Amino acid sequence: MSTIPRGAAIVGWGKCLPPAVLTNADIATFLDTSDEWIASRTGIRERRVSHVPLGELMYVAAARALACAGVDGRTIELIVCGTTSYDDQAPNVASGIQRRIGAEGCAAMDVNTACTSFLYSLSTATAMIKSGVVKNALVTGGEVISPFIDWTDRNIAVLFGDGAAAVVLQATDREEGLLAEKLGCYGESREILRVHGMGAAYAHQNRVIGRTEWQFEGQEIFKKAVHGMALACGEALAKLGKTSAVVDLVVPHQANMRIIEAVARKTGVPMEKVFTNVHRYGNMSAATIPVALCEALEENRVKPGALLLMPSFGAGLTFTGHVVRWGERLTPLGTSPVELPDSNRSALDIITKYRAIKAA
Ligand SMILES: CC(C)(COP(=O)(O)OP(=O)(O)OC[C@H]1O[C@@H](n2cnc3c(N)ncnc32)[C@H](O)[C@@H]1OP(=O)(O)O)[C@@H](O)C(=O)NCCC(=O)NCCS
Repeated sequence: MSTIPRGAAIVGWGKCLPPAVLTNADIATFLDTSDEWIASRTGIRERRVSHVPLGELMYVAAARALACAGVDGRTIELIVCGTTSYDDQAPNVASGIQRRIGAEGCAAMDVNTACTSFLYSLSTATAMIKSGVVKNALVTGGEVISPFIDWTDRNIAVLFGDGAAAVVLQATDREEGLLAEKLGCYGESREILRVHGMGAAYAHQNRVIGRTEWQFEGQEIFKKAVHGMALACGEALAKLGKTSAVVDLVVPHQANMRIIEAVARKTGVPMEKVFTNVHRYGNMSAATIPVALCEALEENRVKPGALLLMPSFGAGLTFTGHVVRWGERLTPLGTSPVELPDSNRSALDIITKYRAIKAA
């Protein structure tokens, strides 16, 4: 292979979903809402709540992706973790993954663009491989967002869930992996989705850091998200001289079924070519697309050489459209023995303490 490779192929993938399931009916035990309202407005039926910190979920996902790729973690040269939630502000989550997979001394960074963080991370890692800085990379997308949810607000509490997934990228001379993308942000709309109480700004406001209040204009987010994603998909495809007619499968950010349907309509792709799992997990922010990619592979929705389109949006308001060429292999080369620590705690039990912080 030449020093400067043509592509960064996705050669491994793995997901990690915490076992505790929070159903719509569970939420209706403490908020004025119903399964009917949530399912009809969002498509969501249930979501997961993590009993462990983000680093644990991401490590398990990373171990599975490495086993799937048949790659020894010690050979990884770059780790990029896409996330908005965090175990610690410092050090970052990527350094913890580095230590646990044994990739001593490799580059390790977190990327935060809210729900688009995995896609911005994929772009970052692919660009570093294509420019010859590194030969391979581990890219994760994950969130443990349940501690930051305002569990007294029915507008918010029904929408989000926890989870993580990872992919392994490898330099290749084949035209594979991320072929083209459009990354964007409507900064003038950054106030339509803002989580008050998550950062240092709140130390100056006599607020308790961690006691969150969400500024959230659902319908504005909806409109901007659809506009941004359709635009980004069109521009990314145009860079390749292609139209949506040649797309084999859309793997979109899973925030809301109605948003996904609107983007498919605007992009000119029939729903049969769109993969959805929002009913199972809700909006896992940075984790939605890599988890959906893993499940699309498990469910035989990805064919060898398929052209995939990945639209996403998030707070900022960031938006992206990625065009990915899949390789030939659809099955993992190996499996990992790594598992999450056992837990039989219910989701309602886990969120009890987060609800207490708000009430205090
Ligand atoms: C949030 C969202 C589902 C709301 O759907 P909507 O059709 O726009 O609903 P509205 O905001 O018009 O609210 C309609 C009513 O339902 C109520 N409502 C809101 N959440 C509710 C819930 N969980 N259960 C029952 N009623 C609820 C509202 O209070 C409102 O009542 P009102 O008319 O008496 O004031 C929708 O706007 C959306 O998905 N937006 C995008 C949000 C998103 O994905 N964000 C993630 C960003 S990464």
